[in-house]
Amino acid sequence: MLKAILIYLSQAKWARRIITGWTFSRRAASRFISGDTLEEAMAATQKLNENGLLVTLDHLGEHVEDPASAEGSAAGYFPLLEHIDRISAKAGISLKLTQLGLLIDYDLCLENIKRILAYAEERSNFVRIDIEDSPVIERTIQLYSDLRESGFENVGIAIQSYLFRSEADTYALLDAGARIRLVKGAYKEPPEIAYSNKKDVDVNFDHLARIMIDYSLEHGAEPVSKDGKTPPVVAIATHDEKRIKFSRDYASRVGLKREALEFQMLYGIRTDLQAVLNAEGYPVRVYVPYGLEWYPYFVRRLAERPANLWFFLSNLIRRA
Ligand code: FDA
Repeated sequence: MLKAILIYLSQAKWARRIITGWTFSRRAASRFISGDTLEEAMAATQKLNENGLLVTLDHLGEHVEDPASAEGSAAGYFPLLEHIDRISAKAGISLKLTQLGLLIDYDLCLENIKRILAYAEERSNFVRIDIEDSPVIERTIQLYSDLRESGFENVGIAIQSYLFRSEADTYALLDAGARIRLVKGAYKEPPEIAYSNKKDVDVNFDHLARIMIDYSLEHGAEPVSKDGKTPPVVAIATHDEKRIKFSRDYASRVGLKREALEFQMLYGIRTDLQAVLNAEGYPVRVYVPYGLEWYPYFVRRLAERPANLWFFLSNLIRRA
């Protein structure tokens, strides 16, 4: 219930106006956001790289409503890719298709992401498409397939274990050679299409991880690239220690080498666990968001963990 309210608030313009109006909100969000600017994000990236961690950078933005803004969002990725290349950062990028105009026009979005992929390709870089809520999932997967058919190989996608359809999608995407980031799912989906029980989401997470690990093993177990930009086929994106243990144990039992099993976590969350996995020899990639459009991302982080919400509210009340 609380999660549903927060997910609603993350998308409500009126709530955004009020909450972003409080200066404390931006300060609270800074636990999860690396900064407002590209320079701040790159400074965070360099620090993570120095500690042996890989990065995927997200220039925050989503649900863009006019073509000029969608094109502007796409253009924002060029200086980012250029900067990563110039300093040889071990980093790729992540983006959302609704940021590039998917809700306005499919072809507009396709052209925007093609420009980004071509620019990234020239710099041997990799682009991950985040997976959003169910109204855009079919189009997201279709667009990913269109990109692969157009010859782009430097693009991956994410899959959510809370959706019933994800098993079929995972098989189809792996057959098409996709590199997949497995997540539980950050939105509120109806019970007709998604597991509402956490246990079922977790069971499906392990099931999908097993499918991905088996596939990788059967197809050469390609490791993370030496420059740290291109992830392996299997990316397990969670802070849940039980899910991580399952993937780690299963991969080691079937003989998948550590470099072919990447773990991913969000900036500011479980940095202790990131360091442990990195020390054990697994590639660990941190999702580093930056920019002014931090509101929906921040509220989703509050929705994931009630303690975050109480921390935010109690500080807010203390300052009032
Ligand atoms: P779970 O919610 O069970 O949490 C396990 C433990 O992790 C908690 O007990 C707590 O210790 C810690 N934790 C989790 N969330 C926390 C938070 N917000 N603050 C502090 N601690 C927290 N989703 C999506 O729909 N599309 C996408 O493309 C992505 N992309 C993505 C990339 C990466 C790298 C990650 C790690 C996650 C995503 N997600 C996502 C978000 C994902 O779907 C999910 O909402 C969050 O990862 C939280 O779920 P956990 O898997 O961590 O498990």
